[in-house]
Amino acid sequence: MPGKSVPVHELGLTPRVEEGPYYKTGSMQRTNIVGPGTPGKKLVLEGRVFDRTGKPVPGAWLDFWHADGRGNYDNEGFNLRGHQYADRNGRYRLETVRPVEYLFRSPHIHVKVRANEKAPILTTQLFFPGENSNTTDPIFNGGAVVNVTETADGGQKATFDFVVDVG
Ligand SMILES: [Fe+2]
Repeated sequence: MPGKSVPVHELGLTPRVEEGPYYKTGSMQRTNIVGPGTPGKKLVLEGRVFDRTGKPVPGAWLDFWHADGRGNYDNEGFNLRGHQYADRNGRYRLETVRPVEYLFRSPHIHVKVRANEKAPILTTQLFFPGENSNTTDPIFNGGAVVNVTETADGGQKATFDFVVDVG
């Protein structure tokens, strides 16, 4: 029967979370965003970028920024700020430090993701499981929580897959 084709299964988009006051354009392209002397426990964040049909998005742009292990942002320079492009399988990998809470905010990593130049930019924040402050931070979003495992070197590995509009 002719008619509009409807995908059998569509993934839910990664939720949007507000940008906050500390975004800066012009970050360097790099996967390790940790400058010398940055306080904080080692953290690797990795995952993939998918479209709503579950297809990887090669070359997706990801721009990260977040607070250090004392809850401070670098607003003068670009420490703990950086952008990268997903590889041909839609994979990204960020080497950083674990942000901690500040003011009323639970620990989070800000990120903007864009599938391609015609697609809308997804602005969101990634949160960490098991933080008491998740229950009191009004910006917390349970749809944007990473999985965390402890690593042998005393650091943490976090994983998160994005689902974005491809325009
Ligand atoms: Fe923030």
